[in-house]
Amino acid sequence: MSLTLSRSAEAYRSACQRVRRDGGSVGLVPTMGALHQGHLALVQAARQRSSHVFVTIFVNPTQFGPTEDLAQYPRDLERDLEACRSQGVAHVFAPAEREMYRADDRTRVRVAGITDQLCGASRPRHFEGVTTIVAKLFALTGECTAVFGRKDYQQLKAIERMSRDLMFPVQIIGHPTVREHDGLALSSRNAYLTTEQRNRARAIPRALSEAVRGFEGGERSVAALSRPVRSALAAAGFRLDYVALADAEEISTLEDDAQAPPRALLAVAAFLGATRLIDNVVLGEDPPPIAAR
Ligand code: PAJ
Repeated sequence: MSLTLSRSAEAYRSACQRVRRDGGSVGLVPTMGALHQGHLALVQAARQRSSHVFVTIFVNPTQFGPTEDLAQYPRDLERDLEACRSQGVAHVFAPAEREMYRADDRTRVRVAGITDQLCGASRPRHFEGVTTIVAKLFALTGECTAVFGRKDYQQLKAIERMSRDLMFPVQIIGHPTVREHDGLALSSRNAYLTTEQRNRARAIPRALSEAVRGFEGGERSVAALSRPVRSALAAAGFRLDYVALADAEEISTLEDDAQAPPRALLAVAAFLGATRLIDNVVLGEDPPPIAAR
């Protein structure tokens, strides 16, 4: 099967319709490009569940804040197409901005509650941009199985709720976070790190692993679970945005003096220089990012 590419929304919609009309099924993997092994793992998961994998590549301007990295965000369509080809992707949709946002575009999709805290608090309107573009992609794609990474756990939960509330014919799969050999979550933004910062970044998976072990050992105090993560990251030279425990579905944070429920999100966002890294584990569900030796 050779890869096809569409640039216009209508050509993409027709390609999706054609697959279903011919008795196939569409597996959707939305991305912003700069594809790495994390994205490609989502492609493999989509392949297992559908006859045709469709990857979308669009650096979505509405999810970037005014001081964020929209202009520098890595873009290399040829390289991404080659990666998609090697993974058996059927179709890539790489629209220009005007295809997705018309000049008189007036509609935004916002998921209340789930997007208020954590990244929603530090990146105002970020999730509104995400759920708006994903709603547009779901509307164009139609019936499909869509795969998203748990690396962006709050995003995954917002998209699940948006899709359910707006009744999209989309089955959503959350794929485990893909990590480097030392546990660091793969991210397009890791490319911004200097060698020295990259070494320091290991502190994130290490601290999350300690917390998972503490939780598995019976620790339930929110303070006792989160404070060691805060100090380990500060000691490694991070500037913290947040380290928080939250309800794993509603993404409402738990106070330091509370007890964690049997399943709880532990999420981290922290800066090394200008680079903001995020990571998370669901305590009571995910294994430690770094396996014990
Ligand atoms: P992007 O950052 O390109 O990520 C695309 C998908 O890859 C997301 O579902 C993300 O969670 C997943 N992903 C990234 N790194 C991963 C890793 N290390 N392990 C597993 N999955 C990983 O997320 C976006 O783009 C955008 O917000 C998007 C949903 C495309 C809307 O614009």
